[in-house]
Amino acid sequence: MSRLIVVSNRVPLPDRNGQPPAGGLAVAVHSALKANGGIWMGWTGETVEEEPGPPTVREDGAISYVLTDLTQRDVDEYYNGFANRVLWPIFHMRLDLAEYARREMAGYFRVNRLFADRLVPMLQPDDVIWVHDYHLIPLADELRKRGVRNRIGYFLHIPWPPADILFAMPIYDTILRALSAYDLIGFQTDYDLENFIGCLQRDGAGDTLRAADGRQVTIGNNTGAGARIAAYGREFAAAAFPIGIDTAGFERLSAKVATREPVQAMRQSLGGRALIIGVDRLDYSKGIQQRIDAYERFLENNPADRGRVTMLQVAPKSRSEVPEYKAMQDAVATQCGQVNGRHGTIDWVPIRYVNRSLTRGLLAGLYREARVGLVTPLRDGMNLVAKEFVAAQDPADPGVLVLSRFAGAARELAGGAVFCNPYDTEQTASAIGQALSMPLEERQRRWERMIARLRDYDVAHWCRDYLGALRA
Ligand code: ADP
Ligand code: G6P
Repeated sequence: MSRLIVVSNRVPLPDRNGQPPAGGLAVAVHSALKANGGIWMGWTGETVEEEPGPPTVREDGAISYVLTDLTQRDVDEYYNGFANRVLWPIFHMRLDLAEYARREMAGYFRVNRLFADRLVPMLQPDDVIWVHDYHLIPLADELRKRGVRNRIGYFLHIPWPPADILFAMPIYDTILRALSAYDLIGFQTDYDLENFIGCLQRDGAGDTLRAADGRQVTIGNNTGAGARIAAYGREFAAAAFPIGIDTAGFERLSAKVATREPVQAMRQSLGGRALIIGVDRLDYSKGIQQRIDAYERFLENNPADRGRVTMLQVAPKSRSEVPEYKAMQDAVATQCGQVNGRHGTIDWVPIRYVNRSLTRGLLAGLYREARVGLVTPLRDGMNLVAKEFVAAQDPADPGVLVLSRFAGAARELAGGAVFCNPYDTEQTASAIGQALSMPLEERQRRWERMIARLRDYDVAHWCRDYLGALRA
């Protein structure tokens, strides 16, 4: 079997406090690579003063990490700049938050060239290269310019926006064209794939856009219905591969930690109150402020439940050097304080708010303790927290997932989750009430539907499906 080389901006190295990073890409790709082995190239997360030296290699079981530092200028322009102030907000349909700067766009392409320069000397002719996420869209094009002819796949972990949104971005056409250098482009949902094809058609690439034999073809053996596309003088495939979690592992972990000390301490501290849990990176796409508004509305509408529920919001800080994130961090902290001030009593705190990364074991145990998992993104590629919450439940007494219809996971968890529209405070508040009062039999019925899907299409399945299609 040929070597697999994964490239992403973020690699799951523990941070200064020994915690692995929070974020779907690191968690999912790590689960996939742990099983199959391979090389994983990416940024250390550290900045250096001068041009970084050659990459360093770190072995960890079956995975070899090839790590590169970046200069402060690179990080400012590429990561804090174009990737997280233009691509992230636009792909999450937040045109209002996008900030363009020519210098940052140039930095984005410069760092992609740097990644290509670093990668080329490592390559063997049979290697299969798998590039991840919005930071590295131009990487295949840069590799092709350097004569690389290997199979190169791409997977986008975040949503792909409709044409009217994408086209508001300067150089959107360069970004679209760059993607045609990949052999296979994977999206989280068929909705993202449709948007992508719509963008190609609207850009005029549609003149040459066609399915292989005039109709849609199936790529992969699950939901990977996709298309063969000829555009911008190149041929490639595009398909949906919804990312999964290590379902069996998470089920085992949550059962194991349920009796451990930190989870028991949490249970005791609740004093019999029902736990409502939210777990997210502190990101404006997650709808955390809307969620807290809905929780407050629930308390206002249901006076009898005051003092009987506790909301735990775990939200590690993320991308704090980006002004929109900093502003949001301050706003959420203030909001939690205000809700606690308005509704709290001397022996009850309505919201517990924690800005920290937790171990996966503790997270699994907390999900299992919760009556309700509140996952309310305004837009999300997939949302692995929704899937983890389901996998962590006790089959004999499962909690209820309240899920935004704007999460990619909503496609797979229909029929199990209680859907909400996070923009509708009243409706989300009712969804919380419905979840809290749901009879056991209905909770079990809904949970069975969701866990069946998660057991079947787990992260290993996702990885096999994607790589099978890329290698085929
Ligand atoms: P995103 O990738 O946008 O952060 P996801 O929900 O898809 O959103 O993935 C988040 C991942 O990060 C999940 O695997 C989740 O368990 C993990 N995570 C989120 N918050 C924390 C936290 N406080 N501590 C540890 N892991 C976390
Ligand atoms: C999302 C993105 C990932 C990113 C993660 C954490 O999952 O899709 O590419 O790694 O968020 O964000 P960060 O900026 O800390 O890497």
